[in-house]
Amino acid sequence: MERTLIIVKPDAVQRGLTGEIIKRFEQRGLRIIGMKLLQVSRELAEKHYDVHRERPFFASLVEYITSAPVVVMALEGSDAIVAARTTIGATKPSEAAAGSIRGDYALEIGRNLVHGSDSVENGELEVANFFAEAELCGGWARAVDRWVFE
Ligand code: RTP
Ligand code: MG
Repeated sequence: MERTLIIVKPDAVQRGLTGEIIKRFEQRGLRIIGMKLLQVSRELAEKHYDVHRERPFFASLVEYITSAPVVVMALEGSDAIVAARTTIGATKPSEAAAGSIRGDYALEIGRNLVHGSDSVENGELEVANFFAEAELCGGWARAVDRWVFE
């Protein structure tokens, strides 16, 4: 099982898309092991996007992600990293596949609605950055799990 951190970004929360976005991951079969609403601090934002620190868009990216509350989710599943990123769609929403979240609801890269971890290693690190271990229901099972996971 892989873990991925999903962030329903400020634009998605403001636009009332939180439920729609949660629904898409739920119906994909991924298991929610943690979820909360919070306003991301500058410190946490800079840590989360540290790989982009030298990029020209870093300041606006930190501004965006800290601008209003977000919903963060820790999801678990087989191939959760790739599955979640496919459900999210390409970084540039104008090029995202129709049927993906960005392809259905977004137009611009700086308003692309959702974050998903990009590797197994980053999934573990990012979940730990946003959730205390006690906030996660790791290892719980759903009655349908045997109909989702082979
Ligand atoms: P995310 O990390 O938010 O899930 O998005 P991603 O993997 O699809 O894209 P990534 O390359 O990690 O970029 C992180 C976020 O930075 C903003 N960005 N702006 N102006 C630009 O050229 C540019 N490039 C990236 C986007 O908000 C992107 O989601
Ligand atoms: Mg990324």
